[in-house]
Amino acid sequence: MITGKFPALRLRRSRKNDWSRRLVEENNLSPNDFILPIFLIDGKNKKQSIKSMPGVYRYTLDKVSIMIDKALKEGLPMIALFPYTDKKKKNITGSEALNCDNLVCKAIQLIKKKYKSEIGIMCDVALDPYTSHGHDGLLNKKYVLNDETVEMLIAQSLLQAQMGCDVLAPSDMMDGRIGHIRKTLDENGFKMTQILSYAVKYASSFYSPFRDAVGSKGNLKGDKKNYQMDFRNSDEALREIALDIREGADMVMVKPGLPYLDIIKKVKENFKIPVMAYQVSGEYSLLQNAINNKLVDENVILESLIAFKRAGANAIVTYYADRIKKILT
Ligand code: PBG
Repeated sequence: MITGKFPALRLRRSRKNDWSRRLVEENNLSPNDFILPIFLIDGKNKKQSIKSMPGVYRYTLDKVSIMIDKALKEGLPMIALFPYTDKKKKNITGSEALNCDNLVCKAIQLIKKKYKSEIGIMCDVALDPYTSHGHDGLLNKKYVLNDETVEMLIAQSLLQAQMGCDVLAPSDMMDGRIGHIRKTLDENGFKMTQILSYAVKYASSFYSPFRDAVGSKGNLKGDKKNYQMDFRNSDEALREIALDIREGADMVMVKPGLPYLDIIKKVKENFKIPVMAYQVSGEYSLLQNAINNKLVDENVILESLIAFKRAGANAIVTYYADRIKKILT
């Protein structure tokens, strides 16, 4: 029998009732904390399922409003556009990225016209949806050329800004691109266009379903290790962030998400800048397949999302964003 004063402190006291658990909660999420990725595809009247991402679809432009309306209804501040590019439009330089009539450009214009500033539009800056080899930049043998690629990214950024993109998100991991993009935007009258740098992007196998979603999966030759980060490193992540902040990034991204919570925490502790986390396609598919197979219940979604917040993320890019209200209640 336990007698006397022991234990004076019982941490279970504050866990006993729901009201008390709510009272002492340290972290919470709201719809404002989410960014919804949307996959686009050419054509008409299509909502196309993606085999490797159950519950996620590609939309033709005439159907994209369905998703924007949903995002608004859920109370999301921003969407992120990703194009599935037809094989015929891909080549070794990814020149379709600079076509002012490409799928992303058309989508930005359409969404801006209809929704004005009701919701933010974020666009990736990288060449991988457009290159025949699936790499984010220009290739020389197996090496992705840095400075030559940056030239393309500057042009792609300016084009997307001209179309009305609110937040440019370079996801290519070239050195020096943030500074050059910032300078070009400023010189061309886009001082208020924001830059969300995918500053810490690891060469990860968790991206595979995404590559299927944008149609670059079969194309990718080799891996992206000569430009994306080595997952054994974390000090290097801080150096990447420091550089991008100095070059003018408004926000930074850590990617993938759940396996990299230590990096989110480190970044947040070292830099007082908005930090976004990307719960990437492979993380989504692992969770969703496990849920669909009844290996785990749906609460794993909220648990995984709160983990990002606990680590210090300000917002989360997730394929669950279109159903976030239900997840949060
Ligand atoms: C393109 C890009 C990728 C993702 C976002 N932008 C893939 C890659 O770098 O190979 C991955 C997103 C996801 O897996 O959900 N540079």
